[in-house]
Amino acid sequence: MNDYRTTYDRWLADPEEFWAEAAQAVDFERPWEAVLDSSQAPSYRWFPGARVNSCYNALDRHVDAGRGDQAALIYDSAMTGRVKTFTYRQLLEEVARLAGAMKARGVGKGDRVIIYMPAVPEAVFAMLACARLGAVHSVVFGGFAARELATRIDDARPRFILSASCGLEPKKVVAYKPLLDEALELCAHKPECCFILQRPELQARLVPGRDLDWNEALQGAEPAPYVPVAATDPLYILYTSGTTGIPKGVVRDNGGHLVALTWSMEHIYGARAGDVFWAASDIGWVVGHSYIVYGPLFAGCTTVLYEGKPVGTPHAGAFWRVIQDHRVNVLFTAPTAFRAIKGADPDAEYLERYDTSSLRSIFLAGERADPATLRWAEEHFGIPVIDHWWQTETGWPVAANCIGLGLMPVKHGSASLPVPGWDVCILDDDGAEVPRGKIGNIVLRLPLPPGSLPTLWQNSEDFMSSYFETFPGYYETGDAGYLDEDGYLYIMSRTDDIINVAGHRLSTGGMEEVLAGHEEVAECAVIGVRDEMKGSIPVGLVVLNSGAEGEPAAVCRELVQRVREHIGPVAAFKRVAVVPSLPKTRSGKVLRATMRKIADGEPFEIPATIDDASVLTDIRGALRNLGYAGLPKNSPPSLSRHPIASP
Ligand code: COA
Ligand code: AMP
Repeated sequence: MNDYRTTYDRWLADPEEFWAEAAQAVDFERPWEAVLDSSQAPSYRWFPGARVNSCYNALDRHVDAGRGDQAALIYDSAMTGRVKTFTYRQLLEEVARLAGAMKARGVGKGDRVIIYMPAVPEAVFAMLACARLGAVHSVVFGGFAARELATRIDDARPRFILSASCGLEPKKVVAYKPLLDEALELCAHKPECCFILQRPELQARLVPGRDLDWNEALQGAEPAPYVPVAATDPLYILYTSGTTGIPKGVVRDNGGHLVALTWSMEHIYGARAGDVFWAASDIGWVVGHSYIVYGPLFAGCTTVLYEGKPVGTPHAGAFWRVIQDHRVNVLFTAPTAFRAIKGADPDAEYLERYDTSSLRSIFLAGERADPATLRWAEEHFGIPVIDHWWQTETGWPVAANCIGLGLMPVKHGSASLPVPGWDVCILDDDGAEVPRGKIGNIVLRLPLPPGSLPTLWQNSEDFMSSYFETFPGYYETGDAGYLDEDGYLYIMSRTDDIINVAGHRLSTGGMEEVLAGHEEVAECAVIGVRDEMKGSIPVGLVVLNSGAEGEPAAVCRELVQRVREHIGPVAAFKRVAVVPSLPKTRSGKVLRATMRKIADGEPFEIPATIDDASVLTDIRGALRNLGYAGLPKNSPPSLSRHPIASP
């Protein structure tokens, strides 16, 4: 029986009753006074008056309920060959001890703690230990550079930092500690203490008086009890790319998050206590927060923390090995991972070497799941492969095929159906609803459900202007798309300058700021160009100052290095070209969308407002030299003001 439509309608009829009922699955220390407080709308507060602890709900209550000996966390490192399982009881002991060591040094409710760590169990302990103390964690992805880390440290103003000597990437050890030291040099804010996990692959130099060896810091630490906090208190801050180089600090509360994630595990993913859930992501992203750490543990599942890649560690069967070894039931990953595997092993020959029969479903998110990849996965696994859509801000899926409510027909190319909790609407630029099948701005009717962001960290102004000003009464997602006649959602593009590189959300505006900071650069544009494996990758086009002395090729190398140093390797910024000028409208707006279409070999119209159309010829030449600008068939040999014929 399929309950999707009835459940969606039940939610729509009375959202507060729906969430009050869902909250019964969670242990609150004190009940709420109201289900929803809209007095500060659009900053909605769920379950005001209630007291709760997220770590208690992730760990203690499962031990109390007799799950103490069930595996809670399986760490599997394809980088080192290490595999370690922690039962709920063991995980609770580790977390309580780390919390005790932090507490002994003054960390308490409301203090911020930055976590800058690779995918090791201690990173999970760290997040849960903060939750236990009511401290607010902010995890920074390891692929970001020192400056990005510094920006986050200065914004969050942490009392403590938890880090490690290194991360392990294929064929290299990434020394994290020097990056942390550099970030702290750059910061105005100084934390009181850093715990540094010394990994056997690299020993970090500790700064006396500030840094403590992780294991020494834990010696003799008393396990800390959990601290009940207000349901509306922040659990974490997670920075994500906005349209500028300044990241947005998305705040997540405790109570709403706990209720929404617990509900999502069963009803969206069809995962119940005892199931093995593997989100092949990183704790630095929202997917890692919600579905490596919190969601599976709230639900009493076993979660897998994987340190490795889908290919090359050691081969394209790496994921299948993990599924086999840990009897994974539900896999969540980004389409780029499947594209990488499909590219390396098109006939899925590795699949025959492993027993993946435990797997019931595969969920993809982070970027659009292209139908070819989806079909490939469906053919080889013969189980539902679901594209679903959400954002750091929403915290959990907005559109999905809710397997727990009964599988709806899968439509390739669609991110499935709105999930109960989310009223998805498509508006034109004037705020009017568009007919089914027509592309527009994807917005979410207010109030947003539990688990979604109540605000941006100490920045309510940006919170308002980023999400609520353009379409009053709605949250603006920044994505464009349409709903079909059956209500299925199709995500087509972003409406801003954010791009998705291998499922990682990055701001081209932020990269432009970095390029513009180079002394030889007069003007620049960064566009997201289609990439077979990563979905898209950034490409830079720069105009040098007249009289610039650097060799263009040398400047390009410096620019690549500059983005690596300022943003980090995760930006995958490796392609940049010098051009005589950038195409602009007469009012001076750079025509990025036109350049992107040229790069992707898509048909495009030369905007009537263009200042000088001949500039496009140089742009096409530069993009071709970089290996892009595949010409659409039948296109004219030179660019004119007329539209280029469709391929
Ligand atoms: N710490 C330090 N550096 C990191 C890092 C980390 N945690 N993660 C990535 N990097 C570095 C990589 O070493 C690489 O550096 P390089 O330019 O020196 O080679 C760069 O950042 C880009 O890494 P990555 O995005 O992983 O690309 P890749 O080319 O090494 O691998 C894929 C491509 C598709 C295999 C890889 O992107 C992948 O596994 N993606 C899965 C998607 C995913 O997890 N998305 C998260 C959202 S669900
Ligand atoms: P992040 O906040 O890093 O999770 O990135 C969120 C953005 O990634 C969304 O706003 C989309 O642009 C994109 N995205 C995530 N999932 C999907 C999907 N299933 N299909 C298309 N785009 C997606």
